Amino acid sequence: MKRTHYCGDLRRQQIGEDVQIVGWVARRRDHGGVIFVDLRDRTGIVQVVFDPIIDKAAHQSADRLRNEFVISVTGKIRERGEGAQNPNLDTGEVELATEELEILNVAETPVFPIEDEVDVAEDVRLKHRYLDLRRPKMQKIIQLRHKSMLACRNYMDEQGFLEVETPILMNSTPEGARDVLVPSRLNAGNFYAMPQSPQQFKQILMMSGVDRYFQIARCFRDEDTRADRQLEFTQIDFEMSFATADDVMTTAEGLIKRIFEEAGGIPVETPFKRMTYDEAMERYGNDKPDTRFGMELTNISDLVADCDFKVFSSVLKNDGQVKGLAAPGGSNFTRREIDSLTDFVATYKAKGLAWIKVTQDGFDSSIVKFFTTEQLQAIAERMGAQAGDLLLFVADQPKVVADALANLRLHLGKKLDLIDESRFDMLWMIDFPLFEWDDNDKRYQPAHHLFTSPTADTIDLISDNPGQVKAQHYDMVINGNEVASGSVRIHQWAVQQQILEVLNLAPEDIKTRFGYFIEALQYGTPPHAGIAPGLDRLVMLMLGEDNIREVIAFPKTQRGACLMTGAPSVVSKAQLEELSIRIDDV
Ligand code: AMO
Ligand code: AMP
Repeated sequence: MKRTHYCGDLRRQQIGEDVQIVGWVARRRDHGGVIFVDLRDRTGIVQVVFDPIIDKAAHQSADRLRNEFVISVTGKIRERGEGAQNPNLDTGEVELATEELEILNVAETPVFPIEDEVDVAEDVRLKHRYLDLRRPKMQKIIQLRHKSMLACRNYMDEQGFLEVETPILMNSTPEGARDVLVPSRLNAGNFYAMPQSPQQFKQILMMSGVDRYFQIARCFRDEDTRADRQLEFTQIDFEMSFATADDVMTTAEGLIKRIFEEAGGIPVETPFKRMTYDEAMERYGNDKPDTRFGMELTNISDLVADCDFKVFSSVLKNDGQVKGLAAPGGSNFTRREIDSLTDFVATYKAKGLAWIKVTQDGFDSSIVKFFTTEQLQAIAERMGAQAGDLLLFVADQPKVVADALANLRLHLGKKLDLIDESRFDMLWMIDFPLFEWDDNDKRYQPAHHLFTSPTADTIDLISDNPGQVKAQHYDMVINGNEVASGSVRIHQWAVQQQILEVLNLAPEDIKTRFGYFIEALQYGTPPHAGIAPGLDRLVMLMLGEDNIREVIAFPKTQRGACLMTGAPSVVSKAQLEELSIRIDDV
């Protein structure tokens, strides 16, 4: 076979040329005498014509063709006749008049049609991923992912970064998810952990004098998969020595700009806006705000502290909070719709959802009677409410209020069509707390990971007031998705020791889990900082996909299974014996 062109590349310029193309039969139509075949390869589709007047033998063989047969055709490119052109195809102005057909392989009838708009259950697509990936849309995703990685490698190389591969079989890392473990045959009873990220290695590389490291790194986290989470995913991991938070953020902005513009054709303006964690929590209720629309949260606690509505006043007496949002045009919601919003916030532990409709004449709700006109007006004014809006409130502890209203805001943003889907809002979240209080374990946990450096002006609070310590930690957020996370690291042993004390980790645990790392820290560690954007999430955003499985060639299901290969699966008794593993009956 000698391919001269890809199907999707054929255009007017090739008219009159002799070409040879190969691909899969996407469709065959017999127009009484002349047979038309849409031939598909990874670049697109072109129409191929079998005319007995041109070649009788080719026309005869074409009669055998069925969908997904693999063929090679030779012939001349000609212009399609008046009215026969297809404006929906890039190749729609031309067709190939076949002189020779070779059938390279036959195919079973595909389990589902190989077209973009297919109505097939996802598990069927995943089981037959080789058919699914033949669809033009999936080929585009594969290409965009490739181009993104290429743009990344070129950019990082230009910025002086070296790509270094780090081990896949290693020790547990402190990212906080559950490890994927691999038993060791040579060390019975011992296990490797797959990297949740190359965090320790990238820092060790800085200690090793590599200065600027990057890696398109596979990471593994045994956590519940969601629309934006996989068991196995890819980070663009990088680390810089002698760098500040600003240096890392500027480099990461340049990287995102390069990928979005070069691979995705999406213009990006830098520098990105920055917002503190406290401001985001106040205005949006979460640390990854979607800033493409308003409907921000408003704290009305001070306005209702003395009101007669017991739900509000009693919560406020118990250190709670009352916040709300104004849903534009929501005053025409039915009782039923409001009830379903109440059920919605209940999933985030809110005990109820108080509401007030703003009308031309005033306010309408069963709870209006508990407030004075002045109180109602002050609430409406602070919330920027207009006639026609629906005001919704949650009274509870700040964490519940934030969680319920942040999610309600996103839910209503979609329901009321407030989100401009053509926008890409890129921003940095900064000034995170260094520690989070873990109510279950009754101790502090690192908010990011335990190698994150405190800020210079809050470091002194570490022993007395850990909750107030801020981290030199930054997250990149695009359209409400956390796409990257990073920090300035601790490079001094004395500071690291203070952090370990607050975290109250057992010395034995420290020694076995990161003893080597702490030792390395004491041999002249340069100041360093880094970040890791999630490649899958970036590709998802560029394509406007809302499921991460769409942008991964061979993804895992929610239950962590690869439906095509059948992983995970049982292994033989002999294999288990070699590993000294005994499986209890399940
Ligand atoms: P973090 O744990 O925040 O930081 O992860 C960084 C980025 O990786 C992506 N990501 C995921 N993508 C898909 N599926 C998952 N299960 C998943 N988990 C994370 C996200 C996230 O922003 N070592 C640190 C980085 C650093 O400090 O340099 C780390 O891994 O886009
Ligand atoms: P109730 O007095 O329980 O009938 O509640 C009156 C209204 O207040 C209903 O719309 C409830 O959904 C709402 N509500 C109850 N608890 C809360 C709360 N913690 N925050 C906001 N609204 C609430």
